Amino acid sequence: MSYVLAIDQGTTSTRCILFDRRATVVSVVRAEHPQSYPRPGWVEHDAARIWRDVRRLMVKALRAAEVEPAQVAAIGIASQRETTVLWDRATGVPVAPAIVWQDTRVDASTIDPDLLKSRTGLPPATYFSALKIQWLLNHTPGLRERAERGEVLFGTMDSWLIWNLTGGRHLTDVTNASRTMLMNLSDLEWDPDLLRTFRIPRAMLPEIRSSSEVYGTAETVLPGVPIAAAIGDQQAALFGQTCFEPGEAKCTYGTGGFLLMNTGTTPVRSSHGLITTVGYRIGSERPVYALEGSIAIAGSLVQWVRDGLGLIGTASEIETLAGTVRDNGGCYIVPAFSGLFAPYWHSEARGVIVGLTSYITKGHLARAVLEATGWQTRDVVDAMNADSGLALTALNVDGGMTADNLLMQIVADFLQVPVVRPMVAETVSLGAAYAAGLAVDYWSDLRDLRANRHRAGSWKPALDSGRRATEYADWRRAVECAVLFSR
Ligand code: G3P
Repeated sequence: MSYVLAIDQGTTSTRCILFDRRATVVSVVRAEHPQSYPRPGWVEHDAARIWRDVRRLMVKALRAAEVEPAQVAAIGIASQRETTVLWDRATGVPVAPAIVWQDTRVDASTIDPDLLKSRTGLPPATYFSALKIQWLLNHTPGLRERAERGEVLFGTMDSWLIWNLTGGRHLTDVTNASRTMLMNLSDLEWDPDLLRTFRIPRAMLPEIRSSSEVYGTAETVLPGVPIAAAIGDQQAALFGQTCFEPGEAKCTYGTGGFLLMNTGTTPVRSSHGLITTVGYRIGSERPVYALEGSIAIAGSLVQWVRDGLGLIGTASEIETLAGTVRDNGGCYIVPAFSGLFAPYWHSEARGVIVGLTSYITKGHLARAVLEATGWQTRDVVDAMNADSGLALTALNVDGGMTADNLLMQIVADFLQVPVVRPMVAETVSLGAAYAAGLAVDYWSDLRDLRANRHRAGSWKPALDSGRRATEYADWRRAVECAVLFSR
């Protein structure tokens, strides 16, 4: 028997999962890593700690299933996107804490939105990597000169892990590169004008490759085992959900929420606040593009209720607490902790809780937390429908938060379409495994992958349309409050 090992390096945790040929999870191991919030709006990770977690978990995943390295056909890496790591080429040591995608320390207001959108498909926002690289180069004495000499390297998490696994190859894939604000969507190369605009030395950037090909072997952990995929985690979920046809879409609920729709081999420019991004590229085939509605805060709002407010002991308790009330009691939470992402793109907006009266209990707050994810999904689905000219008829969902049945019902109610969850909820890992397995002929083609898809649960809309319309109007007013309360 042979297997594919997937690494899902996410914002709050890292998972390693072994899959067999039928896409069955053979073993799964997981570790959370600390989030560091040194100042309001700042979010940092310790990249060295994340690498240690990955190394340990890879070995542990094999041990848990009593699988030998020789039985691993390939390794696929899915990772949080945009998070910016700079490290010393000679020592491999990060030169500063990694700046996480949610971090808002940079100023995105000076960027020419037209240039950016036409070259990269992205709006100016604190979200993407280029301004984070620039910030580090500007705020660390001597770093720019060292980067110009090629002594300091930049990478998103995929590059950081590939560098460490291979013992020094500096690569990224098209999906991760498409989130840096530096890659031209047409030729899938670093754009010289943008490098000049952001003053980023070319010498520090990785080589851009496809999402599914052999980049090297995992010499430092599982010698001889090919690393055969790197793909942004949200694109990995699109692939794992087997959304291979134009018009097929999925929404992953993890730290944030990310709705991606396959738009085929031509990039579609959004006029309703969505991102144009690369969905995946298999080897030398034509790239497949996607439209994306990115929601910055979904599961991390629940985490904040647990860790910041102490209202619940575990994340899953939010469902029980929200279930103690019939509605939100008039209370809305807009979690603009990192500004507002799609379709608003207000980097300066800050979170608000509105509609408070003495009637409000922690049950209502819990309900408003879940509804915030539901309304944000509605916002991006409306934008997706407007951009594509198609009306979504069902929403494929995945990710940790989909275990919350009340949330899934809320999403179905707010969208007025059925919500469908697949059997394997770990679609990010599955997508990375699929991309890696294709590169080494573990699976032969996309049809092979599609055959593994089985649905596990679905929710039908049940909310009265009058109430839905009134509450959505209240949500939009709450969003205006978040924008008014910009920093
Ligand atoms: O763009 C950020 C995204 O890739 C993070 O995903 O799963 O860590 O919330 P996740």
